[in-house]
Formats: sequence, structure tokens, C-alpha cells
Amino acid sequence: MRLAACETEGLNRVYDRSREAFAFVLSMPTRLLLAFLLLPGLALCQQPSSTPGEYQGRVIAQTMHWQGAAWLVRHKREREEATTTMRANLGLKPGMAVCDMGSGNGYHTLPMAEAVGDTGKVYAVDVQPEMILMLNERIAEKGVKNIVPIVGALDDPKLPERSCDMILLVDVYHEFSQPEAMLTAMKKALKPNGVIVLVEFRAEDDSVPIKPEHKMSKAQILKEMEVNGLKLVREFEGLPWQHMMFFGLPPQKL
Ligand SMILES: C[S@@+](CC[C@H](N)C(=O)[O-])C[C@H]1O[C@@H](n2cnc3c(N)ncnc32)[C@H](O)[C@@H]1O
Repeated sequence: MRLAACETEGLNRVYDRSREAFAFVLSMPTRLLLAFLLLPGLALCQQPSSTPGEYQGRVIAQTMHWQGAAWLVRHKREREEATTTMRANLGLKPGMAVCDMGSGNGYHTLPMAEAVGDTGKVYAVDVQPEMILMLNERIAEKGVKNIVPIVGALDDPKLPERSCDMILLVDVYHEFSQPEAMLTAMKKALKPNGVIVLVEFRAEDDSVPIKPEHKMSKAQILKEMEVNGLKLVREFEGLPWQHMMFFGLPPQKL
């Protein structure tokens, strides 16, 4: 497009040769003035609706997008995260009802289903339906019968009340946009003596190659669980990159 210009009061009248017509465009000072007035509003409008906030002094991480799901089933994950050791330390037994919260495409869900057996059950919850679709494909491929996939909401995992002996969150809690609502709902979903297990990349360790907002320190985890009425009941610090902390509800007073 080739333009010829002449200036009139804040507008440049230009001849657009490609259209054989005159057009008006804003002069430079007018453009600068408008930018000054409009930019703060535009910046707000352009923030993604899922812009994370803060919780208890921690920046909440963006949710890992389902298009990156291949990373969850990468070959070197076992070596990097010692995932078999992590699951062995859960103490899963046949007949248990457990939840893989933020299951993604089911990296942990399928071995958990094997560990709890036909008499047990695994609820697999994720907010991204695409993750649950990928999980469903793997369930169908393996012919597994004891997994219940659930598309949860950001503030509600949609678990039945008092249904779970254990709720496992591997690399998930730090992504909750509404941590308090999720913790309240998860506590309701626990059976008496049920536990919530957090597996989070160690923020204290600079050699763990994960973005800072996707890591958590032990002190921060303790702070957030305690303000939500959860007590540390056990921990396993033998994983290469992650904290593994078990939380329960204090015994009810009669
Ligand atoms: C980093 S991935 C981890 C997936 C899986 N736990 C694993 O270790 O392979 C985090 C997952 O948490 C899910 N997520 C984030 N917020 C959630 C919420 N409020 N309820 C359920 N899932 C959530 C995301 O959709 C994503 O699939």
C-alpha cells in the first residue's frame, strides 16, 4: 500500500493508492496521547483470564497446558523423579480408594490402579478435559476397570464425600488457582484418617531444573497446609527432586 500524506488537526489525510481513495489516519502526537490514555486499560484486557494470583506470599503457577502432556510420560522421568520409589512410599494396598488429583494423562493413575487392585478404586481428576481424554485412551488400551475419570472445576474436584483413603497430588498443588476451595473440597472427600499427599519440586534446591513458580519450599507447604487445618503426619525425603509430604486432619474432638 503506498500512501501520500497531508496533515490536518490531529489527523493525517492520506491517499491510499491501492484503493484509489483518501483515508484518515491519526497524526503522531495524537497517537501518543491516545496510547498514554488507553495503554493501562489495554494491558488489563490483554491479561489471560487464567492469570495466576498469589496465595500466602507465593505466586501461583500457570496450569501446565495439555499440549505439553508428552513431557509427563517422558522416558527419563523415572530416573529424574524416581517415580516408582515415590509410589512405593505411598503405602497403597488392595481395596483402597484413592485419588490422583491433577492426574494429567495418567502417568501415575495406571500404576496406582494396579496397586489397589480390582477391589480398589482410583478417582482421576483433572480440570483439562483433553487430559482426561488422553487418560481415557490409555484406560481403554489397557482394559482397566477400576479408574473413575472426572473433569473437575478449578474450585471443585467433584469427588464424592468421604470417598478417599488418600489423595495424591504430584506436581499439582502449586497450580491450583483456588487453593483454599480445593483444599476444603479435598478434606470433605477424605475418609476418616485419610491423607493428602503433596509431591512438589524442592524450591530450596537450585539444582532442580524447574521454573521457580513450579517449585515449593517445605516451609511454604507447611504454612499453606496448616492455615487450612491440615497436619503433617509423615514425610519421605528420599526423592531426587521433590518433597513428599503426607497431611491429615487432626482427630475430631467429641
Ligand atoms: C504438571 S501436571 C501433573 C500431572 C500428573 N500429576 C503427573 O504427575 O503426571 C499438573 C496437572 O494439574 C492439573 N490441574 C491444575 N489445577 C487443577 C485443579 N484445580 N483441579 C484438578 N486438576 C488441576 C492440570 O490440568 C495438569 O494436568
